Amino acid sequence: MPRVSTLTINLEKIARYVNLGLPLVVAFFFLAGRYYSFYFHFFTVAFFLLTVMNFFYRHVQKRHALLANFGLVAQGRYLLESIGPELRQYLFTNDTEERPFTRIERAEIYRKAKNVDASSAFGSLLDFDGSDFKLRHSLYPMANREMIPYQLIFGEERGLKSAWTMTKPILISAMSFGALGSHAVRALARGACKAGVLMNTGEGGFPKYHIMENCDLVFQMGTAKFGCRNDDSSLNDVKLQEIAALEQVKMIEIKFSQGAKPGKGGLLPKEKITKEISELRGVPMGRDVISPPYHVECFDPESTVRFIRRVQDVSGLPVGMKLCLGREDEFYQLLQTMKRLDIFPDYITVDGAEGGTGAAPKAFMDDIGMPIFKSLPLVHKLLIEAGVRDRLKLMAAGKLINTGRQFMVLSMGAQACYTARGFMLALGCIQALTCNKNTCPVGITTHNKHLQKGLDIEDKSERVKNYVMNLCHEHIEVLTSLGKKSYQELDEKNLLFPEKA
Ligand SMILES: Cc1cc2nc3c(=O)[nH]c(=O)nc-3n(C[C@H](O)[C@H](O)[C@H](O)COP(=O)(O)O)c2cc1C
Repeated sequence: MPRVSTLTINLEKIARYVNLGLPLVVAFFFLAGRYYSFYFHFFTVAFFLLTVMNFFYRHVQKRHALLANFGLVAQGRYLLESIGPELRQYLFTNDTEERPFTRIERAEIYRKAKNVDASSAFGSLLDFDGSDFKLRHSLYPMANREMIPYQLIFGEERGLKSAWTMTKPILISAMSFGALGSHAVRALARGACKAGVLMNTGEGGFPKYHIMENCDLVFQMGTAKFGCRNDDSSLNDVKLQEIAALEQVKMIEIKFSQGAKPGKGGLLPKEKITKEISELRGVPMGRDVISPPYHVECFDPESTVRFIRRVQDVSGLPVGMKLCLGREDEFYQLLQTMKRLDIFPDYITVDGAEGGTGAAPKAFMDDIGMPIFKSLPLVHKLLIEAGVRDRLKLMAAGKLINTGRQFMVLSMGAQACYTARGFMLALGCIQALTCNKNTCPVGITTHNKHLQKGLDIEDKSERVKNYVMNLCHEHIEVLTSLGKKSYQELDEKNLLFPEKA
């Protein structure tokens, strides 16, 4: 029988006592101050102010019914409500309850990033009720020495001179300077450089801080095309050419949509627009920056495919597209058009609806878009059915923060894994859920100098490197347990599907 929770606190009674008690306490301290010690008058003043506030809430303000009915007592409720998330996070929720990442998931990343023992004892804390994907191991694990090193060459299908070879299956997913503060960007970029992985710039315009750290980059072009735009958000070829010519930029990614807000353009709240960001993006200060939900050049399959070709021609680099899958029929038509025109992006990144964001409307985060374990197999299948799977590379994103989930997508057709929040956790993110407020307590998603002070770039770059290295080490262990010599051998036979999938 479910327990019915009833409110046992009689607020009305408490409020009555407070209404009556406050003037009495004021009178008491007044007399004590007058006849015993002057210092009691401090209490007289404090309680007098509370009495005035109580009166104001109950008889003057009209906006809050709870305050009008219960006065100061209702403020106590508001206070508790406001610190509820912290109380739950620190005291009351168990290790597998929190969202988007449980304490267990976060702790695993922290341990990898700090390079401390990542083993656990006694047994898994997860449920084994058949509701999750699991991996199937082999009866005949492989020996480490037989492993074939990972390698993925972007642009080889088009015979590009600028083809880029990736030697690790993990990339830092798009997060702009703007969504992140400069310390976070620099720590990630320095860490990426040490670990030998690519970092996606996000849609924040010219990659000033990334270049400072000299790491290999995927330059992302969002719908507003910050860094290479004309005033109407169309592409400025010359500016794109200049960015593509930077030594650090290895690939270009055209962002069509993002899992956390598919069909909605980028959003940077005004609180986070500093003078520097307004200059780098070419946007005014004091107003939210809302990018258009589409590229002005792309209004049907053909214009979209031709735009991809234009970016390939202008940049001379491998060019990918990032999207969150919505309607399969639209994706099918896009593929048919690519086939007809014989134009393909060099890669597609499929972002799951469970992906993160710096800021987005809640309806988009919660209710729009397909989760990665649904969309990725569909995209992979449609590519195979169209006979074009070998014309491009496929990458995935969407809570791929640990080896387990990464191997799920690698078995579903992805050839590399992007993660954004995995790297934020490696930087020390405590999941305060304030990325849109400029108040990030660990200095990651803020431009406040005082808050950024705690984020030591060198120290955190080591954590980024450790996170990658420990993931890669674990990858090899898992590959061997699945009985595989290389990532190319992974397929959906490695997966145990959830019973209700
Ligand atoms: C703070 C933050 C900023 C982001 N900024 C961008 C962006 O500029 N462009 C983009 O395509 N995706 C952006 N994303 C989405 C990520 O690149 C990624 O697709 C998504 O979060 C899924 O990865 P994750 O679940 O590992 O975080 C952002 C995510 C976060 C958390």
